[in-house]
Amino acid sequence: MRTQVGIVGAGPAGLLLSHLLALRGIDSVLVEIRSREYCEARQRAGVLEDGSVRLLREAGVADRLDRQGIEHGGIYLQFDGERHHIDFRDLAGRTVTVYAQTEVVKDLIARRLADGGPDAIHFDVTATEVADLDTDQPKLRYTSKDGTRHEVSCDAIAGCDGFHGICRPTVPAGVQTITERDYPYAWLGILADVPPSTDELIYAHHRNGFALHSLRSPSVSRLYLQVSLEEDIADWPDDRIWEELAQRFALPGWKLNDGPVLDKGITPMRSFVSTPMRYGRLFLAGDAAHIVPPTGAKGLNLALADVAHLAPALAAFLRGDTTLADEYSPTCLQGVWRSTHFSWWMTTMLHRTPGADDMEAQLQLSQLRYVATSRAAATSLAENYTGYCPLPAAAAG
Ligand code: FAD
Ligand code: PHB
Repeated sequence: MRTQVGIVGAGPAGLLLSHLLALRGIDSVLVEIRSREYCEARQRAGVLEDGSVRLLREAGVADRLDRQGIEHGGIYLQFDGERHHIDFRDLAGRTVTVYAQTEVVKDLIARRLADGGPDAIHFDVTATEVADLDTDQPKLRYTSKDGTRHEVSCDAIAGCDGFHGICRPTVPAGVQTITERDYPYAWLGILADVPPSTDELIYAHHRNGFALHSLRSPSVSRLYLQVSLEEDIADWPDDRIWEELAQRFALPGWKLNDGPVLDKGITPMRSFVSTPMRYGRLFLAGDAAHIVPPTGAKGLNLALADVAHLAPALAAFLRGDTTLADEYSPTCLQGVWRSTHFSWWMTTMLHRTPGADDMEAQLQLSQLRYVATSRAAATSLAENYTGYCPLPAAAAG
């Protein structure tokens, strides 16, 4: 078999890339180890930056997003018994849109299958391998659901297979530099069949630990609690979760609605950047190359931004012009590092560090109060949260 671009992984990055390539008349083979149902149900991110919404609109895959996405003009920061509004519209002239990653994935899968037929995405594959990455015909190998082994000769391969994928580890030792940090806590997340108790997201700093109130729709809420890394989800029956959430969000005159829990899980938090995002004809995108703790709501947005750069770079590369392909990694990494810093900053400002002394606790509160009361500090949060766009002059210089 032969294709122009082999794509590993049907998460947001791989799906959007295969669609953007198809719009340019470029064919791809997209393989995914999970089932379609699994990919469409996996609970992850929920907030799209302004630029991600525009990207999906320009790609013609935003009909449902435009109908069902909920535009938010800010967030609440809660600490020391007070809730403060950070007004993105006023401070940064931009908004974000609450639209779950599950829905982005469903929209992209539906569009790829409608445009490319049932073979546009190969779900349920096993034993994926990439090889000959430093030659001009790299290979993508996989076993399809019926047990047949395939080898696809490609002009380029896109590793969009997430943090635990096979593409990044295939790059020979010594080629990549890994920069990483693990955080000493995790998030316990729930999806609940109850209308949100807030009009915009609440990020709460509390002596028991961080809590986040997000949402999926006018009738479904998404909430998170900071828990220890050793925590076992079996020790968190629904009543205990709701009690802890109510305590961390408590405010006079405000009540947290509870309801049936539809899904729950624990996620560790990590910052990780692997550079460069290219080896020969293998291009890494999204979580395969970098991950951020979810406090800044950046992971999904970074994955979409990577492939927005990668699609035109691959199109030019296939025509023999390597300029954009050569610029792919350095260009993306500027945004990756900005988001890595912002996510680290939000995370360390809002979470309780185990064993932290009183000095650290007071410094956190001082930082939070500064963000809530200084227009300059609040603007910095607002422009990073909604999607930082470097000044053209600064970018050129
Ligand atoms: P993924 O979405 O990870 O997609 C990779 C795909 O590759 C998967 O479908 C996987 O099954 C497939 N794959 C893996 N290995 C292979 C293989 N060998 N062969 C073929 N296919 C393969 N971000 C936020 O902003 N907010 C959040 O609340 C949030 N929560 C998260 C919770 C979890 C548990 C995780 C893991 C991430 C979370 N993120 C969150 C981050 C965000 O969801 C990711 O940044 C985003 O999914 C990245 O998209 P991607 O396409 O790069 O990778
Ligand atoms: C979510 O809705 O899942 C969500 C929102 C904002 C975050 C992280 C997760 O910072």
